[in-house]
Amino acid sequence: MAKPTFYITTPIYYPSNTLHIGNAYTTIACDALARYKRLRGYDVYYLTGTDEHGQKLQRRAAEEGKKPLEFINPIVDWIKDLWARLDISYDDFIRTTEPRHMDAVQKIFQKLLENGDIYLGEYEGYYCVPDEAFWTEHQAKKGDKYVCPDCGREVSLVKEKSYFFRMSKYQDRLMNYIQEHPEFIQPESRRNEMVNNFLKPGLEDLCVSRTTFDWGIKHPTDPEHVIYVWIDALANYITALGYLQEDDSKFRKYWPADVHMIGKDILRFHTIYWPIILMALDLPLPKKVFGHGWLLMPDGKMSKSKGNVIDPKFLIDRYGSDSIRYFLLREIAFGQDGVFTPEAFIQRLNFDLANDLGNLVSRTVAMIEKYFDGVIPSPSDEEPLDNDLKESARKALAGLEENLDEMRFGNGLAHLWDFISRTNKYIDETTPWALAKDEEKRGRLGTVMYNLAESIRIISIALQPFVTKTPKKIWEQLGIQEGEGLTDWESAKVWGKLPGGLKVNRGDVIFPRLDLEEEIKVIDETTAAARKQAEENKKKQEALSGQQPSATDKPESKLEIGIDDFAKVELRVAQVLEAEKIPKADKLMKLQLDLGYEQRQVVSGIAKYYTPEELVGKKVICVTNLKPVKLRGEHSNGMILAASVNDKLTLATVPDSMPNGAIVK
Ligand code: ME8
Ligand code: MG
Repeated sequence: MAKPTFYITTPIYYPSNTLHIGNAYTTIACDALARYKRLRGYDVYYLTGTDEHGQKLQRRAAEEGKKPLEFINPIVDWIKDLWARLDISYDDFIRTTEPRHMDAVQKIFQKLLENGDIYLGEYEGYYCVPDEAFWTEHQAKKGDKYVCPDCGREVSLVKEKSYFFRMSKYQDRLMNYIQEHPEFIQPESRRNEMVNNFLKPGLEDLCVSRTTFDWGIKHPTDPEHVIYVWIDALANYITALGYLQEDDSKFRKYWPADVHMIGKDILRFHTIYWPIILMALDLPLPKKVFGHGWLLMPDGKMSKSKGNVIDPKFLIDRYGSDSIRYFLLREIAFGQDGVFTPEAFIQRLNFDLANDLGNLVSRTVAMIEKYFDGVIPSPSDEEPLDNDLKESARKALAGLEENLDEMRFGNGLAHLWDFISRTNKYIDETTPWALAKDEEKRGRLGTVMYNLAESIRIISIALQPFVTKTPKKIWEQLGIQEGEGLTDWESAKVWGKLPGGLKVNRGDVIFPRLDLEEEIKVIDETTAAARKQAEENKKKQEALSGQQPSATDKPESKLEIGIDDFAKVELRVAQVLEAEKIPKADKLMKLQLDLGYEQRQVVSGIAKYYTPEELVGKKVICVTNLKPVKLRGEHSNGMILAASVNDKLTLATVPDSMPNGAIVK
């Protein structure tokens, strides 16, 4: 019987710059799903690539004094190298400048012209170059300015002869489809957003050609026009499979896609325009479009233009690709926004990978060496504790499968880590070091060692969708040969597959423990460099266009929280009793605060803006239930609030009449 197929895609990224870990996030998530599906017996086709046309890229290249491809090629090489270093297991990488794609897009456009879905008209409206998106006057007007409603950047007025796509013709069909296929747009909240914000108000015909620049695929018969970059880009999902090409066997085999994985920024293109294009081509729609959330930095969405980015290659070089894959999949609830902080990153590596997983492997291998000359013994008896361990393995695998089928990577990993913790606890409960002292307990000791090795085998199998190097390292240490019935997914469900008698090899520590403060410093330094660069670029561009940045510009999208989330933050009035600069830290001030019911120390980054004398006596607002941290060796138990813009900062203060400790809400 032929294997069931599974076709999964990432967005094709703009090679206008090197990628940051936000882009890597989507690709890693797709890779985890692709690997998981392969392990479950699917014939997987995993597609990624680059979106190489459009005005933005043409401009970027011109800024550097280069021809578009001259500018793009090295970036594409950089991207491919990134995917290689992250062990991304894609089956095809499509570039929209390849002839196979360009020819097929022209044929698609021709088809749409022939069946009357595309017609020639006149366009007048507003265009956001960075997003390559069109807006109406009504959508773009904000006060006396015109800005992109998605990203807040200025748009330009465009008036030109253009081809249009009759979107409205398909509106009802799409609405019905979305209603009949609740799984089509995921997560659910995003479906409502698309229906209410875009479909219900009614679709306008979409402008699908441009004449004011030429870096794109030409209209098949009217070559003054280039095809709108989003039609060009979206089509990659079918042109890569050979649609309208000589050999379309892959298209027949894999289409429709099982999942288009994207960030929520491009949901509208994927759940409205793309399905309508497919309907017009008389093709089936993808089964699912999953719009995941943002990877945020503490100051908002990670984006190149802002410079608050983390270079994935820096992280890979320093911490290894498995660490990054693990962190992103574990820390951020897929679908929701999540914040990258160096602290959370290093803690995860230390707690989950170095302690829980790494120690389990090294302790077990060391004990088998010590007590059994490095040979895994066969089990000889069975006790309730052993059964408990087996049950924990069963639960972990069931939990993993249930969550991975729904793309809840973090929950899946949490189930696996329950089992890892259970196995660590098993060591404490069975106390092998005590058993080893008693010759009569030799059989029991053997069983315990066997069960530990078998647990680790099961863990190593379950890790495979998420991390790529660690499972192999574990097999090496346990003396397991890959592909001999001991490493496939189903074998993890059968306790006792591991044969006794394998020879373990003590290897290097899988994940070394890291120094938290040191690593935070190193990561912060590299991001500071990226920020500085972005600031300079921005200044250059502003000088060119004569615009002034404003503190009140629409902020980039931030993490959205409910009132219940906000209620978790405890804010209170606090009075500064003492203030003191921290030596050698030019920003930090150590404060003693009076909260009415207690006194506490908070370290705050305000030393550039206030002298200690100015602070004493002030009534400020303090976050009182923040996890305590150590900054430059000083305990900080809370945080005080301040308003800041560029190089100005003012503490949020409260009149003296308010008693210390009063709740702020
Ligand atoms: O939009 N957090 O390309 P793009 C999470 N070429 N994911 C992020 C992210 C962040 N902070 N920043 C970016 C385009 N992404 C088009 C796509 S598809 C037919 C054409 C990810 O280079 C996320 O997947 O701007 C988002 O959708 C994608 O990068 C946008 O990449
Ligand atoms: Mg973008």
